[in-house]
Amino acid sequence: MLPSDRLSFITLLILTFKVCVAEQSELICSHQPIVALAGDDVILPCYLDPPISASFETVVWTKPGLDPEYIHFHQDGRLMFETQNPSYFYRTRLFVDELQNGNVSMKIFKVKISDAGKYFCFLRSMLKEASIQLTVGVVSTPIIEVVSNNSGRVVLQCESKGWYPEPEVVWLDGEGNLLSAGPTETVRGPDDLYTVSSRVTVEKRHSNNFTCRVQQKDINQTRETHIYVPDDSFPVQSSSDRIRIIIIPPVCIIVLFIIITLIICTKRNQKNETEQEEDEGQQQDVKTTEFLTQINTEDERQKTLENTERCSVQRRRLKRSSSDGERGGRRKEEWRKSL
Ligand SMILES: *[C@@H]1O[C@H](CO)[C@@H](O)[C@H](O)[C@H]1NC(C)=O
Ligand SMILES: *[C@@H]1O[C@H](CO)[C@@H](O)[C@H](O)[C@H]1NC(C)=O
Ligand SMILES: *[C@@H]1O[C@H](CO)[C@@H](O)[C@H](O)[C@H]1NC(C)=O
Ligand SMILES: *[C@@H]1O[C@H](CO)[C@@H](O)[C@H](O)[C@H]1NC(C)=O
Repeated sequence: MLPSDRLSFITLLILTFKVCVAEQSELICSHQPIVALAGDDVILPCYLDPPISASFETVVWTKPGLDPEYIHFHQDGRLMFETQNPSYFYRTRLFVDELQNGNVSMKIFKVKISDAGKYFCFLRSMLKEASIQLTVGVVSTPIIEVVSNNSGRVVLQCESKGWYPEPEVVWLDGEGNLLSAGPTETVRGPDDLYTVSSRVTVEKRHSNNFTCRVQQKDINQTRETHIYVPDDSFPVQSSSDRIRIIIIPPVCIIVLFIIITLIICTKRNQKNETEQEEDEGQQQDVKTTEFLTQINTEDERQKTLENTERCSVQRRRLKRSSSDGERGGRRKEEWRKSL
C-alpha cells in the first residue's frame, strides 16, 4: 500500500466511523413553530440527540424560496459571508462553543415580518436535515371611540392599526360574554400590516364596562382596551360625578332662588312704574285742563278787555264826532274802515 492510499483509507475509516456514530444521533429542531414579535431576537433551536460534536461539521441554514437561499453557511469554523443572503447580513450567529455539544441552533437578531417561514438545517457530512417554522408577529393596542351616543344606545368603534398576521376582533361585556358585533373590516397596508375595525351597538340600560379584544392565535397575542358606558338614567359613577351630585343641587337651588327673586322684584318695579305713570298722566291732564281753562279765561278776559276798550274808545270818538260835525262823520267812516 502507498502512503497516500493508506491515508485515504484511514480517512475513509474515520468517515465511516463518524457516519456510524452519527447514525445513532438525530438532528432535532423544535416541532412547535417559533414565535417572535418583529424587532425581537430569536433562537431557532436545533441539536443532535444523543449529543455528538458538530465542531468540525459544515452547518448550513437555508430558507427555500430565497435567492441565495443560504442564511448561515458555517464551514471550517467560520461563517462564509460570500454565500449569505444579504437580508441576513450581520443578523445571524451560531453558538460556536455549543457545537461540541451537538447544539447547532441559530440566532436571528431583530426579526422582520419577511423572516417568517420555514428554515432548514443541514449537517452535510452526517447527511442530516431538519426543518423549523418561524412565525413573526406585529401587534398593537386597540382604540375605542364613541361613534354615536343617542338616548338609550351607544355605538362604539374599535380600531387596531398594524397587526401581523391578520387578527380577529371580539367585543365582550362586563361579565366577559361575547357581544354580537358588525363584521370586522380589514385593510392591509403597503407594509403588509393589517388594520382591523369593528363596531358594536350597546344599550345604556345598565352601566357597563365593555372590552374590545384583538387577538392572533398564531402568535399567541392579545391586546385589549376597555370603555365604560355609564347608565343614562342615573349617572352617579365616578368620584367626579359624586362631587357633582353633592355640589350641583344646592347651587341650582340658590341660582333658582336668585332668579325667582329677581323676577318678582322686576315685576313689582314695573307695576309701580305703570302706576306712577298713570298718576302722572292724570295729574298732567288736570294741569292741562287747568292751563287750558286759564288760557280760555285769559283769552276771554283779554277779548272782553279789548271789547270794553273799543267800546269806550268808540263812545269817546262818537262824542267828539258829534261835536266836530262833518269831520266827525269822515272820521267815523275811516275808523270803520280801519276796523
Ligand atoms: C443551544 O444553545 C443556545 C445558546 O446558548 C441555548 O439557548 C439552547 O438552550 C441550547 N440548546 C440545547 C439543546 O442545549
Ligand atoms: C373594566 O374592566 C377591566 C377588566 O375587565 C378593568 O381592568 C377596568 O378597570 C374596568 N374599568 C372600569 C371603569 O370599571
Ligand atoms: C400564550 O401566552 C400566554 C401568556 O401570554 C401563555 O400563558 C401561554 O402558555 C401561551 N400559549 C402558547 C401556546 O404559547
Ligand atoms: C353619552 O352621553 C351622556 C350624556 O351626554 C354622557 O353622560 C355619557 O358619558 C356618554 N356616553 C359615552 C359612552 O360617552
